[in-house]
This record gives sequence, structure tokens and C-alpha cells, in this order.
Amino acid sequence: MSEITLTIDGKECKGNAGDTILQVAQKHDIYIPTLCYLEGLSPMGSCRMCVVEVEGSNKLLTSCTTPAQDGMVVFSKTEKLFNYRKQILELLFAGRNHFCMFCSQSGDCELQRLAIEHGMDSVRYPYLYHDFDNDATSEHLQMDHNRCILCGRCIRVCAEKVGAHTLDLEQRGWNAKVISDLGEMLGNSETCVSCGACAQVCPTGTITLREFVYRGRRNDCDEVVESICPLCSMGCEIKGYVRTGSLARVEGSNLEGPDGGQLCHKGRWWLPESTERERVSVPMIREGSTFREASWEEALELAAGKLKAANSKGRAGAIVSGMSTDEELTMLNSVFKSSMNMEYMDCFSGNVLRGFKKGFKPFTEQGIRPFTAAHNILESDLVLTLEADPQEEAPVSASYVRVNTVRNGGKLANISTGGTPFKGITDVDLNIGSEDVLDLLTKLVEAVKTGKSETLENADAERLAIMLKDAEKPVIVLGGQLADDARKVTQAVNLAIVSGGTFDDGIATVPMVRSGNSLAALNTVVSDEPWVNEVDLDCLFVSSTGLVPETPESLEAMSMSRFCIIQTPYMVNPLVNMADVLLPAPAWYERSGHFCTLEGERRKINVLVPPKTELKGLSEIFGTITEKMGLPMNSSDVRPCENIYTSKVSPDKARTAVLEEV
Ligand code: SF4
Ligand code: SF4
Ligand code: SF4
Ligand code: FES
Repeated sequence: MSEITLTIDGKECKGNAGDTILQVAQKHDIYIPTLCYLEGLSPMGSCRMCVVEVEGSNKLLTSCTTPAQDGMVVFSKTEKLFNYRKQILELLFAGRNHFCMFCSQSGDCELQRLAIEHGMDSVRYPYLYHDFDNDATSEHLQMDHNRCILCGRCIRVCAEKVGAHTLDLEQRGWNAKVISDLGEMLGNSETCVSCGACAQVCPTGTITLREFVYRGRRNDCDEVVESICPLCSMGCEIKGYVRTGSLARVEGSNLEGPDGGQLCHKGRWWLPESTERERVSVPMIREGSTFREASWEEALELAAGKLKAANSKGRAGAIVSGMSTDEELTMLNSVFKSSMNMEYMDCFSGNVLRGFKKGFKPFTEQGIRPFTAAHNILESDLVLTLEADPQEEAPVSASYVRVNTVRNGGKLANISTGGTPFKGITDVDLNIGSEDVLDLLTKLVEAVKTGKSETLENADAERLAIMLKDAEKPVIVLGGQLADDARKVTQAVNLAIVSGGTFDDGIATVPMVRSGNSLAALNTVVSDEPWVNEVDLDCLFVSSTGLVPETPESLEAMSMSRFCIIQTPYMVNPLVNMADVLLPAPAWYERSGHFCTLEGERRKINVLVPPKTELKGLSEIFGTITEKMGLPMNSSDVRPCENIYTSKVSPDKARTAVLEEV
């Protein structure tokens, strides 16, 4: 990329050929006002706030769309520009009903900020007093068209990052309006996935998030803390806005990343909602059908005694959350496996993770990471969803699939046993019985390898085999349901290998593991064989984050155990009902540590809001419990992310494998 040099406001600025004037200015900390421009989205050049004067040109040029050129002389702060921008702002105010004192966005609005910046204390044009709808039909979003400046940010984020293409413009001029689908109210849209990305990027009070409206404007917040969403293994980066000790709003943070700072409906709504639930605030001990409050000392003494007695008979077990941090998983391994020699350890989604672990084993044994970073879906020319529902399992990965198919021109195929996850955009769709999936995968592997498709039973399967053979960068998305039989997982990885699906980091599959740190749990606490539900224990320790409902089999294991020590942040049944000793836990926003994410990075979780009462994390609890049990706290050499981020052997050397045993 060749370097260029231009002058902006008398300052010599270097940039790269292809940069716009705005990009070069921003690299050199030269402020040019913008409205429709947003880093990470394609420039649209519609608002004209970013206009600049360029020597030799008699027009004002929009800096967000005009390429910078070597030798250019640019002025961004002349009186002429100031007056022009002020005039645009006045026209925007006059064109719709911007009465700031009645707008929930007041104080947090880019239009208002620019008006103040330009000294706009009156409007010289007659107001049109339009009477557009205020669309309040969506459960989470409100869209008051009377405040829209037609900047198109919402339309672009919905198309370019979410891939939903829900929003567009209808009509022209003063009557232009953002619409959903073909003119539906937003709440009736069939394509909207309720991710809230449009509200996050809207510079005015047009699209607002109902939950956050009066919780605090961004500017009123005391602190903005970066962390990650714990809800699924995508590990989306978030910004938590903290106001007077509570979480006022959660937004996506990494605008330049492949996800464009998106969150899904879960990350956007569930996280702030969870801060309002009733908490377990003190340790409690069961007395008949109720609990009584206890001191930490008493509760941990009782817990240690029960665990010790059960463990001496080999009848102690533990189920932990897949949202435990790497640090917690390492510590739990050390306590349960090294110090206590406990046989029965698992995590809530143990069965799914076990299926993946077993199915991946032949490839990890070759020193190869059997999956790739989720954003590589965006590089693929063919995505195959295999018993997967990405919109439900890891929703931002569904955005990648949609964007890759609708915008990047990649093909999309599906094999499932109940419905098509991406209706209307799938090229080949095979809906079959669950008992037939393994057989079909085996035949597809053979057909792609040999180029002979006689064994395939229908034309769609034959077409899929040809598409896989012809693809240069296929990616296979593995749904959790696939893991009910580890042989299907192995065959899916084989299919990626014979189709030439590899990336630098691993084989081109993306497993849909739900909880945020499932990949690390798979590498640490998930037992090789299932026991939850099959073993009748004297004492079971359960650590839950309370963010998602516990699986039915883990609840059954709790009901089968004679004594349950449950650590959880929230007073939520049926979990709390199962406890004999109930210990408070820090909620997701009160914890710190690391997660291994599907995006291929070990990401850091930070405390967004410190706990208001005395809470003990797992390390502190087990420090005391092991001491009371008279056990050494052995150090652990377990590394949760081992084999998750590194292939010791180049992935294109991967050999297909057979997994007989399940
Ligand atoms: S909520 Fe998401 S999918 Fe729905 S319109 Fe907004 S950006 Fe598009
Ligand atoms: S709704 Fe908001 S983001 Fe969309 S065009 Fe209007 S002002 Fe811009
Ligand atoms: S995709 Fe997963 S990590 Fe991202 S916001 Fe949604 S639940 Fe959270
Ligand atoms: S920011 Fe450049 S035209 Fe709107």
C-alpha cells in the first residue's frame, strides 16, 4: 500500500492510498464533524456534515467519501464550512420534530451535540411539523420517525453486519422514511432478529432501546467498562455503562471487528435484565422446607464435612457452569481432581460438550485444532449448517452466515432434522431423520473424496457433494444436536478435511457450544463418560451463574443427590429449591477472569460493578473448604485453552479418522 502525503488545515498528514480524507484526518487527530459516517460501516455521504474545502476544487467535498490524494491541500475549519454545516443542522431540525426537551435521547444525541457545537440557538426555516408514526410495536425497540435524519446508519448496520436487511428507505425528499420489511411495523417484521444494533448506531432519539431509556444517558454514566458477554462462546465484546453502582446499559464494543460491535438479542436484553433479579445475599442452610441464614464459617464447615464424608466413599460429585472462567476451571480441576480424586465432575451442558470432545479427539491427537474461529465464516464460499440453529445457539455467528450469503455471495447449504435455520437464502436444504445424519455424512465424505456420488440417494445430496468438492473455503457449522453422537462430529470434521476446508488456525468447522466458556470446560471439567443422572451421590456441589436455565438432567442429578451445596447469584427456582446449603455467588458483572471464545481469542472479563455485599468467589470458597477438609490445595498444570487456539501441525496436514466407539 503506497503512502500519500497531504496537508489538512496546514498540517502535513500521511495516509495510505485508498484512505478517504476523513480517515487521514482522524489518523492525525483532526476533528471533522460527521453524522451519517460510522467507522465499520460503508460510507454513504448523505448528511454532508463532513464537507471540506480542497484547493483547486470549486465544490465542497464530503470527506467521508472523497479519496485522499497525494499533494492535496484540505481545509476543514473555514467560516464557509462552519456556516454551511450550521445550515444543514437547521434544515435537519426543521424537517422533523426535534424538540429536545421532550426526547429521551436529549443529552445523548449526536444531532443535538452538533447543533450546540455550531451555536445553533434558533432555526431560520419554517418547521414542517411532519406527523410520522412513532412505531412502538417491537417488544424492545421504539422507532419515532419524527426524529429521523435519514442518515442510513441503521439500514447499513442491519444489512452489512447483522445481515438481516430488515430496514430500508421508502419515498424521497421530505417524505422519505425508514421502513421495516416491505412497510411492516417493526414489531411485525419477519426478518428482524431483535439484536438492537440499529438502536446502538442511531445518532438521534429515533430508534431507542426501551429498557435503557431512563436508566441513564451515556454521558451521565460514571464509568464505561469493557468486558465480554458470557452467554455464548462467541464472547462478544461489550461496554457496560455504570451509573450510581448499577448497570445502565450494555452495548457492543468492537466496531472495527468482524462483528461490527453487534450483540444479539440475548446479550443486549438478558444481561441488563439479569441485574434486577433477586439475589442470594447470605449463606443459607436448609431447615425442613425453608432456609435459615448462616455465617460463611458455619455454611462452609457444613459443606466441607459433607463433601469429605461423601468423597471418602467415592460418592461426591460436582457440576459447574460452562460460564466459569478459565481461572475457576483450573482451580476446580485442582481441587476436585488433584486434591480430592473426585470421579464425578461435569458441566451443565456436559453431554453436548462430551460429544464434541470425543468427536474431535482423533484430530486433536494429530496435533490439529479441529475447528476454526467463527468469523472465518465470513471468508467462506460455502457454509454448511449441520443440525445447527446458529440464531439460537450463538446468534452473532448467524449474522456471519447471513452476511456471507447475502452480501459476500457465498453459498449456503443445510442438513437438519427439523426445519431450516436460514429460510429463503439456503441453496441446498436437506431435512432428514436424525437416524440418517451419520449415514449421509459418511456417504458425503466418500463422494467428495472419490468424486463418485452413486451412493447418495437424492439429487440435493448429490448437488451438495459437488458444491463441497468445488468449494475453496467451505466452513461447516456444527450444531449442538450433532454432538448427541460423537461419530457424527468426527464425520463432519472429515467432511471439512476432504472438501479442503482448513484455515491457518484449524479445520474449517465451527461448533455451536452455548455457554461462554464451554471450550475451556470441554478441556477441563467435562468427564469422559456421562454420569450425571446415572449415579446416586451423597453430596453434590453445584456452581451456577444463574443466567440460563439448568439442563433437566442436571436438575435430576441434584434431586437424586442426598445433599446439595449450591452456589448461585440469583434466588431462582427450581435450582434454589434443590439446595441444602445455599451459597451466594458473584453475578456475571461482578466477576473477572478469562474465557476461551469461538472467535479464537482468550478474552478478558472485567468487573463491571463491584458486589454490594460480601461475596466469595469459587477460589475463596474452595480455599476454605479444602483447609477444613485437611486437604492440600494442589497446584494444577491444566491449561483450559490448550488445543483450543493452537494447531501444533499445519491444519492442511489433517487426516480423516474413523470413530467406532461411542
Ligand atoms: S433490531 Fe437488528 S435485525 Fe432488527 S432492524 Fe434493528 S439491526 Fe435490523
Ligand atoms: S433511524 Fe436513526 S440511524 Fe436510522 S436513518 Fe433515522 S436517524 Fe439514522
Ligand atoms: S452472540 Fe453470544 S456472546 Fe454475542 S451477544 Fe449473543 S449471547 Fe452474547
Ligand atoms: S458524515 Fe460524511 S456525508 Fe455524512
